[in-house]
Amino acid sequence: MTKALTGVRILDFTHVQSGPTCTQLLAWFGADVIKVERPGVGDITRGQLQDIPKVDSLYFTMLNHNKRSITLDTKNPKGKEVLTELIRKCDVLVENFGPGVLDRMGFSWEKIQSINPKMIVASIKGFGPGPYEDCKVYENVAQCTGGATSTTGFRDGVPLVTGAQIGDSGTGLNLALGIVTALYQRTRTGNGQRVTAAMQDGVLNLCRVKLRDQQRLAHGPLTEYSQYGEGIPFGDAVPRAANDSGGGQPGRILKCKGWETDPNAYIYFITQAPVWEKICDLIGEPGWKTHPDYAKPAARLPRLNEIFARIEQWTMTKTKFEAMEILNKDDIPCGPILSMKELAEDKSLRATGTVVEVDHPTRGRYLSVGNPIKLSDSPSEVTRSPLLGEHTDEILRQVLGFSDHQVAEIHGSGALDPPRKQAAE
Ligand code: COA
Repeated sequence: MTKALTGVRILDFTHVQSGPTCTQLLAWFGADVIKVERPGVGDITRGQLQDIPKVDSLYFTMLNHNKRSITLDTKNPKGKEVLTELIRKCDVLVENFGPGVLDRMGFSWEKIQSINPKMIVASIKGFGPGPYEDCKVYENVAQCTGGATSTTGFRDGVPLVTGAQIGDSGTGLNLALGIVTALYQRTRTGNGQRVTAAMQDGVLNLCRVKLRDQQRLAHGPLTEYSQYGEGIPFGDAVPRAANDSGGGQPGRILKCKGWETDPNAYIYFITQAPVWEKICDLIGEPGWKTHPDYAKPAARLPRLNEIFARIEQWTMTKTKFEAMEILNKDDIPCGPILSMKELAEDKSLRATGTVVEVDHPTRGRYLSVGNPIKLSDSPSEVTRSPLLGEHTDEILRQVLGFSDHQVAEIHGSGALDPPRKQAAE
C-alpha cells in the first residue's frame, strides 16, 4: 500500500525537538526524509541525556524515526555543492536553525528559489518578526512568552511550565500542517513558498482560551475560576487557575483511594450540567438536585469549592480506575491521572500503535510514541532512527546519482569530515 506522502522528498535540516517532530510526522506519512547532520557531531540531541554511554540518546531516537541520515559540512565548498544538488532533488527543506543561520550558510530563500523554484522552505523560529526575532529559543522560553506560563500553576504560587512540549512539538505540528498545505497548493500553482511557524505564536494559539478570558475580564469576574467563589478579587490580567476547567463546565482534580502514598491517585472530575442529577445521586446528595443553591449551574459557581470537596469525599472511597468505570456508566466526564509508567504499560495504546516498541542496533529495544494521527489508507509503521551518516553514500549515489569517482572526490574534499578540534580543547 502506498502512503499519503509517497514520492515527497524532504531535506531535513532540523535538530533538537521542534523541527524533528515535524519531519518525523512527514516520514510516518511516507515522505523520504533525508536528515542532514554535521559530520562527527550530528544532531546535538544524539549525545544529550544519554542513558547508555556512546549510544544515541532516547531524546534523539524518539524524534527521528523513519529518516535517513547524511553527514555533510555545509560550510565546506564541496559540501555546498552537494547541498545544492540536494535542494534540486527535494520538494521541501525544513529547518529550525537559529535566526540567520541558513543565510550565513549561503542558502537564502532567494538562492534556494533560484536553484529550485518548486521548493517549499519551512522554518521554525522562536519568534516572528518583531523585537525578539533574532533570539534563540527553547521550549520553556516559548511557554513563558506565549502565555502558557503566566496562566499555569496556582494563583498564589510562581508561574509554572508544563511537561507537555507545547512550544517544541506543538510548533512542529503546526509546521507539518503548513508544509502539506503548501504541497497541496503547489499541485495547482507549481510554485514553492515559504512556511514559517514561530514557537511563541504556536503556544499563544494553544492558549486561546486564556486570551478569551483576558477580554471577558473587562466585563466582570471570571465566575468559573475558584477565586471567584473564594471572594478573591481579580487583577487586570488572567490569573493562574490551578486545575479549574478552561471551559464552561467546572472541573477539578480530586483525590482517590491511595492518594496518601501514590502521587497519581487522582481523577479529573467535570460537573457537566446535563449529568448533575446523576452526580448528586452518586455522591449521596439527592437534595442538591432541587435545592436553589445547587440545582442550576449559575447557582453552583460561587460554591464550587464546597461542591468539589463533597464529591472528593466520594472519589476518595474509590481507586481512580474504579471511579472512572462508575462515572462513565453515567456519562459523567472524568479522567484518571495516568502516570508515565501506566501509559507505557497500557495495552490499548500499544494495540493502536500509539505506544510502540522499536529495535535499535546499538541500544536494543526501546519504547516510543508512534504516530498520533491515524489515516485509514496510509498506515504508519515506526522504524528506528538512523545512525549518524548511515545513509551518506546511499544518498550520494541513489538520490543524487553521483558516480564512484564523484563519491570518492566528495570523500576526499573534507566535506564529510568532522570539524577539527580547537587547540584549547
Ligand atoms: N555543517 C556545517 N555547519 C552546520 C551544519 C552542517 N551540517 N549544521 C549546522 N551548522 C552550524 C550552523 O551553520 C550554525 O553556524 P553559525 O552560527 O556559525 O552560522 C551553527 O551550526 C549553530 O546553529 P544553531 O541553529 O544556531 O544552533 P545552536 O545550538 O546555537 O542553537 C537553538 C540551538 C535551538 C537555540 C537554535 O537553533 C534556535 O533558536 N532554533 C529556532 C527555534 C527552535 O527550533 N528552538 C527549539 C529547539 S527544540
